Amino acid sequence: SGQPTVGELAKLMHKQASDIIKFLFLMGNMATINTVLDDETVELIGMEFNIEVTKEHIVEEYNFEELDEEDDPKLLESRPPVVTIMGHVDHGKTTLLDTIRKTKVTEGEFGGITQHIGAYQVTVKGKKVSFLDTPGHEAFTAMRARGAKVTDVTVIVVAADDGVMPQTKEAVDHAKAAGVPMIVAVNKMDKEGANPDRVMSEMSELGCMPEEWGGDTIFVPVSAKNGDGVNDLLENILVVAEMQDLKANPHKMATGTVIEAKLDKGRGAVATLLIQNGTLHASDAIVVGTAFGHVRKMVDDLGREIKTAGPSTPVEIIGLNSVPIAGDVFKAFDQEKKARQIAEARLQARVEEERNASSAMSLEDLAKQI
Ligand code: GTP
Ligand code: MG
Repeated sequence: SGQPTVGELAKLMHKQASDIIKFLFLMGNMATINTVLDDETVELIGMEFNIEVTKEHIVEEYNFEELDEEDDPKLLESRPPVVTIMGHVDHGKTTLLDTIRKTKVTEGEFGGITQHIGAYQVTVKGKKVSFLDTPGHEAFTAMRARGAKVTDVTVIVVAADDGVMPQTKEAVDHAKAAGVPMIVAVNKMDKEGANPDRVMSEMSELGCMPEEWGGDTIFVPVSAKNGDGVNDLLENILVVAEMQDLKANPHKMATGTVIEAKLDKGRGAVATLLIQNGTLHASDAIVVGTAFGHVRKMVDDLGREIKTAGPSTPVEIIGLNSVPIAGDVFKAFDQEKKARQIAEARLQARVEEERNASSAMSLEDLAKQI
């Protein structure tokens, strides 16, 4: 990592690898597409083709995280935990999220919640907590596959009248693989036939032994329907989050992850972003996957326009030139030029990959026809 090969550099510069190899040959250097280039040679090639290529470009092109340099510990500040709710179909995830939001949000100056959003923030005992309503396990899996660690605490919802089901197991596996602490919400306690002991013993078989049985997993009985136990659940989330001592540096340009995105007829690409580090400002230039643009408008989870958003804040933005994919990582820049360069290089790389894939396909098709 770090030093590019001829092939990688060609991609980055939107040039043919053969042109670079030719140039190197004329300079007395025998190279192939896999030859690793040192800084000096990269600079020389850049000069020849009149394209400024710095090491920064190369790192940015391939991975934002690598560029997200270590933060000075003095600049770190506490940030709210990000909580994901998972569990089997119909066990009450959405109802639980709605109940949390209603009890914590509509109490305030806002009359009701109409819009569906993929992420929101509530205040519990004066402390902010962000919730992600991940649309099913697929998105979560996709995010994890991309190496995006977005969540700090997982709440696994298990219906007390149904017990552990296949997707409950999947959720436990996800949380374990991600190394995220989990809390079990034993839901539908209001129902006849609710059997929390059964949930606890079935979860123990998955390696999640309740604290009261000598294990270290917190179980909270709740009813998402009537709100019983929900405050207790929230307080437990706070305790688990506080043990992690979550911090971020709000004093730099923002980085984070796309939670969901869509194309809106009137507004264009609309993306819900979770800011994970730094602060996003209305008007910042940003790159998300191969999309880029300026933040033209930024609203919070209640639809209020905001000018800045710090770590762990979910926001909805417009201003991107295309629709990004959930799980894509974004990065803000102070110059639009830089954002555009990176997005264009990525787009070019993607187009070339697709072109290579399709020419390989047509060769195969050709072979079949012969
Ligand atoms: P999917 O998104 O389809 O996986 O389901 P979900 O886990 O989001 O479940 P949802 O919140 O949609 O609830 C499923 C059904 O269970 C709905 O009819 C809810 O009204 C009901 N339900 C949820 N929580 C409770 C509860 O605490 N008590 C009772 N009695 N019903 C509940
Ligand atoms: Mg649901």
